Amino acid sequence: MEFSTQTTAGLQQVRTAALGVGVFADGVLTAPAEVIDRASDGAISALLKSEFKGKANTHAVLRNLPGVKAERVIVIGLGKQEAYRASTHSSAEQLFASVCAGLNVADAVSTLATVECEGTTLRSRARAMAAAGQRSSYRYEATRTRDLEPAPKLKKLSLWTTRSKSAEALAGLKEGTAIGNGMNLARLLGDMPPNLCTPTYLGETAKKLGKDFKSLKVEVLDRKKIEAEKMGAFLSVARGSDEPPVFIVIRHIPKGGKSKGKAPLVLVGKGLTFDSGGISIKPAANMDEMKYDMCGAASVLGTMRAVAELELDREVIGLIASCENMPSGRANKPGDVVTSMSGQTIEILNTDAEGRLVLCDALTYAERFKPEAVIDIATLTGACVVALGHINSGLFSTDDTLAEDLLAAGRETGDTAWRMPLDDAYQEQLRSNFADMANIGGMPAGSVTAACFLSRYTKSYSWAHLDIAGTAWKSGKEKGATGRPVPLLTQFLISRS
Ligand code: BES
Ligand code: MN
Ligand code: ZN
Repeated sequence: MEFSTQTTAGLQQVRTAALGVGVFADGVLTAPAEVIDRASDGAISALLKSEFKGKANTHAVLRNLPGVKAERVIVIGLGKQEAYRASTHSSAEQLFASVCAGLNVADAVSTLATVECEGTTLRSRARAMAAAGQRSSYRYEATRTRDLEPAPKLKKLSLWTTRSKSAEALAGLKEGTAIGNGMNLARLLGDMPPNLCTPTYLGETAKKLGKDFKSLKVEVLDRKKIEAEKMGAFLSVARGSDEPPVFIVIRHIPKGGKSKGKAPLVLVGKGLTFDSGGISIKPAANMDEMKYDMCGAASVLGTMRAVAELELDREVIGLIASCENMPSGRANKPGDVVTSMSGQTIEILNTDAEGRLVLCDALTYAERFKPEAVIDIATLTGACVVALGHINSGLFSTDDTLAEDLLAAGRETGDTAWRMPLDDAYQEQLRSNFADMANIGGMPAGSVTAACFLSRYTKSYSWAHLDIAGTAWKSGKEKGATGRPVPLLTQFLISRS
């Protein structure tokens, strides 16, 4: 989709197939809605006397209004004015884009981003608009052959603003486009079935990104090279599957070489393309959803794509440890002790706590880059879903500045996280009589002890961990990957560039 600004002075003069204007609940018109109302002899006021009341997530279509050049005016409900915030704006843009797609129009103009909203700027609202537009164009088609919805015709979405603010809006639109593209890549990888989206496929996808974007340098380590790195914990998980593991290193080198002596930022993704639990096998119900256990890796690839598209002036490195967790004669057994790349030994008491086993070696690998910060992203624990549901990702960090910056990036993009504790006192639960640590910490605070396990591999740099088990995909009728936390990560990297 193409995004631009539309700076025609009189809104009623704008020629477009669909013009989007917002109305608050209780009949308060936004400034653009008021302009249209006046030009059309009160068409919107009249609408508000009918069943349309401006509730959030509702809309009405007005055609051929007198005095208005747009073919249709789409009135979008924004809910109560005092409750209007970034997330309401973002949902309103999403509704507008999907209504336009549904009406099969080819071009549209939105005025929603002109409405001021606490904690946002025109740039961030423009970013939200483009991300919403880009997301509305996502269709999963890779393995469907029948009853496909036709691809939406919507090709051009414009943001209505004044000429003096156009540059700021365009900067936001550019960021939103890159974020939306990154999210759609992450969603596609998540939604693809695990027999096709294998570790090898993730490696191929990374290589393809390296071809498409000049700034990206990609290296895919095979089992032999992973063995040479002595990633004993990662390899112990991979050993149970016939599908070969890969370790992906994808680097964004800004134009003119490494950016001004600044240390790189490193993203580490959990890439379990299927997690059956292994010998500690999971129950059958909903096990298909464990194809989404590579969503951390997918978010790293999506974010690297966004970083490359934006040509960020900052070195960013993505690391992905990818394999399957399967039961077999070669699989990990409860009681096994393995040696991680760091040299620390691990007693595997539950083979389903495999994410931390693949991540710990990736975190040790990250040391060689002498990074400014390392952020790992993982669908790590069911306990995190119990704690935070599907609203916030869990954020764990021992570095308050890093944590605050990540939380802020989440707030700014509506891709929110919530900080969780990481006190030393929880470390006790990982004690083992037969190794340096156990891979599980028992029932209490399951997402915290998982983070505590990872913290033992991150002593030499500033580190944060995002548990996205509740936010990376939706279940039920709407089953599908969300593309989170690509917006949070990309925004964080923009703010550090
Ligand atoms: N990939 C799962 C975590 C998960 C479960 C994410 C359900 C989303 C929904 C992870 O590998 C896992 O199995 N974790 C175990 C850890 C336990 C054995 C300590 C869990 O959460 O049950
Ligand atoms: Mn598991
Ligand atoms: Zn897992």
